Amino acid sequence: MPKDILISTSMLSADFARMGEEVEAIVEAGSDWLHWDVMDGHFTDPLTHGPLVLKAVRELTDRFFDTHLMITNPEKQIPLFVEAGADGISIHIEAADDPARLLDDIRKRGCKSCLTVNPPTPLDEIERLVEHCDIIMLMGVMPGYAGQPYGEHTSARISQVREVIDRQGLPTLIEVDGGINDATVAEAVAAGADVLVSASYVFKHPQGYAAALEALREIAASA
Ligand code: DX5
Ligand code: ZN
Repeated sequence: MPKDILISTSMLSADFARMGEEVEAIVEAGSDWLHWDVMDGHFTDPLTHGPLVLKAVRELTDRFFDTHLMITNPEKQIPLFVEAGADGISIHIEAADDPARLLDDIRKRGCKSCLTVNPPTPLDEIERLVEHCDIIMLMGVMPGYAGQPYGEHTSARISQVREVIDRQGLPTLIEVDGGINDATVAEAVAAGADVLVSASYVFKHPQGYAAALEALREIAASA
């Protein structure tokens, strides 16, 4: 029996001039979650959406807003994104002095807590931090841009985190962000991923958003 896989479409590849319509189209196409790539021009070179953008489209859907904070000093922004309607908030291990405290704060504010790890960052801290996480997100690419290739060590890292979660008997989900498409989704799921983020594959699919989501789901189901 294949497990349920969730797809979180990243709005980073949407047409920003029509963000409201894009949100409605992605919801209509059947994305489980909507992924918001928040970049600050410091932790990552680009700058993207702030809480005002989430707040502006929040009323269009009740789908889970999966908010990926690629920013330094995330503690300052967490309350603002909660207020804007985030359902899950992800902080980077590389950007937090005390990730456990921030993850607990996210939970206390009523959101799912997610810890994100960049491809070159060692995974040793996960053992200690996993109990604070509803989700652990492994980056398949360095943060900053959509459309980069899936890193060659990503699936091995998913398996490593899967082993830690299962050994501790926790319900923590594993999310994978970056490089997910019809050629990589099977190995990510086989390695133990539960949630798949996709930006460019969904938005650039020649048959449209629903066909892209359906293709990812079908391959994931048989992985
Ligand atoms: C990268 C972002 C990813 C990215 C994924 O900084 O965190 O969410 O948009 O894009 P694709 O799916 O095109 O690799
Ligand atoms: Zn992301």
